Amino acid sequence: MALTLAERSKLIAPSATLAMASEAKRLKAEGIDVLDFALGEPDFKTPENIQEAAIRAIKSGQTHYTPPAGIPELRQAIADHYTKACGLPTQAVQVIVSNGAKHSLHNALMAVTGPGDEVIIPAPYWVSYSDLVKLTGATPVIVQTTEAEGFKLSPAALRANLTPRTKLLMLNSPSNPTGVVYERAELEALADVVLEAGIGVISDEIYEQLTYGGAEPTVFATLRPGLAERTITISGVSKTYAMTGWRIGWAVASASVAKFMGDLQSQETSNPCSVSQWAAIEAVAGPQESVKAMHAQFTKRRAYVLERIAGLPEVTCVAPGGAFYAFMNISKHIGRELGGKLIKSDTDFCLTALAKAHIALVMGSAFGTEGYARLSFATDLKTLERGFDALESFLKG
Ligand SMILES: Cc1ncc(COP(=O)(O)O)c(C=O)c1O
Repeated sequence: MALTLAERSKLIAPSATLAMASEAKRLKAEGIDVLDFALGEPDFKTPENIQEAAIRAIKSGQTHYTPPAGIPELRQAIADHYTKACGLPTQAVQVIVSNGAKHSLHNALMAVTGPGDEVIIPAPYWVSYSDLVKLTGATPVIVQTTEAEGFKLSPAALRANLTPRTKLLMLNSPSNPTGVVYERAELEALADVVLEAGIGVISDEIYEQLTYGGAEPTVFATLRPGLAERTITISGVSKTYAMTGWRIGWAVASASVAKFMGDLQSQETSNPCSVSQWAAIEAVAGPQESVKAMHAQFTKRRAYVLERIAGLPEVTCVAPGGAFYAFMNISKHIGRELGGKLIKSDTDFCLTALAKAHIALVMGSAFGTEGYARLSFATDLKTLERGFDALESFLKG
């Protein structure tokens, strides 16, 4: 008899975004010029000074195992960043460096949740959250937010979903897929409920340096006394420094949680890539001019995207205060015929837009919210212009 899969295999659904990705790939292989707005990664090259730091690391022999939780120099540089720039006093032992923020999220959830626990996840949410929670044996409790409330979890909705089993709240500001940035006062109100209920928080702040139009990122753990002990802050270099392929993310947690996450990592993956760690020091502690230059590009693209969405028939969008996504409400087009096909869902919308107009978007249902399509503006203005021209014609039926 063939080897059977463990029960755990039933906990993970194949990503709904895969259908889009494989279809886009198939079309590209046929030679079709697909306008790809599905990608969640900056199109820029990793800045020169960071590349150089990696080359220096290779040449000077930094190519061996490192301590599993990361090299002390990087952990210190990250701790300094939180202490000096974010007002979160942090010791290097509280920082665990992992193979990307996704790995940090997995380790953080493994550290503090398990069977019998509930984890509150406001929707729309980043695709991996619910499956990562399920993998630990805990139960995701999805709380739907609406466009009318700016896709923000209210303190009342948080309170209404608390049970004696609630262990954690997962927050993500700026958000993927909506780009929503909570205001400080809104996070303070959530922090008060968290403290009152005695639950923990995983605050995914990976887009912390990508905010626009006066929106301010907030390090959630700093908001109230006693919050840092019950918060795990997640971030990394992928988005800010255009370093998605280098696989460096981190968690900042209480010393005891961090210690367990380090021990877990020592059994699971050992250290993140040594060369990438040295490059990440240059990213975090080196000159930040390239970040400003990329930010300026994102700012222009966002303005262009918002202008073009405003011109689309019966499409609305909450203006993203951060990240590089526009979460477009396309629900008015469901039930209509577009590109010669009756559109019955947001998945139909995205698959038909890909097949007929050659635009790759990601359906809202992949993020737990039906009726939307996420467009990434981590791509150049020319491609955006062609994409919106194509989308406009597609929506005219
Ligand atoms: C909200 C959010 N968290 C975490 C990640 C993972 O980042 P990394 O590339 O560092 O694993 C992403 C990447 O898309 C993201 O959008």
